Amino acid sequence: MARCEIFAGNWKMYKTRQEALDLVRGILAGISDIGGREVVVFPPSPWALPVSELCRGTKVSVGIQNMYFEQEGAFTGEVSPLMVKDAGCRYVLIGHSERRHVFGETDEAVNKKAAAALKNGIEPMICVGELLDEREKGNTNDVLKRQVEKALAGVTAEQMKKVVVAYEPVWAIGTGKVATPETADEAHDFIRRVVKDLYGAGTADALPILYGGSVKPDNIAGLHAKENIDGVLVGGASLKAESFLNIICVK
Ligand code: PGA
Repeated sequence: MARCEIFAGNWKMYKTRQEALDLVRGILAGISDIGGREVVVFPPSPWALPVSELCRGTKVSVGIQNMYFEQEGAFTGEVSPLMVKDAGCRYVLIGHSERRHVFGETDEAVNKKAAAALKNGIEPMICVGELLDEREKGNTNDVLKRQVEKALAGVTAEQMKKVVVAYEPVWAIGTGKVATPETADEAHDFIRRVVKDLYGAGTADALPILYGGSVKPDNIAGLHAKENIDGVLVGGASLKAESFLNIICVK
């Protein structure tokens, strides 16, 4: 596969500090032999700094699960791009379905956060994906096109070198209902075509598009074999070092 391969773990709102450090130590102990694969962990915000310190100089990068788009100010409860950077994070997850559907994050907010990340040298991992109802009504491509186009409004071709997209069908997240490799590949191919229309073939071909939604050690092989799937964003199965390593080390 020509594009870089990224195996990311989203820990959501799980793990105490000690558990987070133990998990990252477990992951570090098992990845000596992963070649060019990239591993990213998204711990809860308070643990971003201690996890980053443990990961410095290793093959594991750290990201934050959410951030605000202003540099600083009276925004109680929010974390700014400057703080994310200062905490040693390389990536930020933007527009995760739980942010969109539990916290009401709009396409406009996703766009502002992506822009703020890029301006501050943080690489946005932009999540898109349709609801079950939208899929059943045949609207999947319309939803993906809207989410991708709005998220990337104003992003330059040069900045696209630092963008990752994660396709996460909402009906597959935390449900145990993984998309088939064919369904996921089709959506990835569509997203790549949307990006091609916006930026041209070179940018589209270089864009890593990850799949997320009930990825487990026993279904990773089929997904990984698909041409358009450049890695995975794993929730539940990234919470134990052994299962995450089984995913990262897929043949
Ligand atoms: P899941 O979560 O692997 O538990 O389905 C994926 C995600 O939310 O990124």
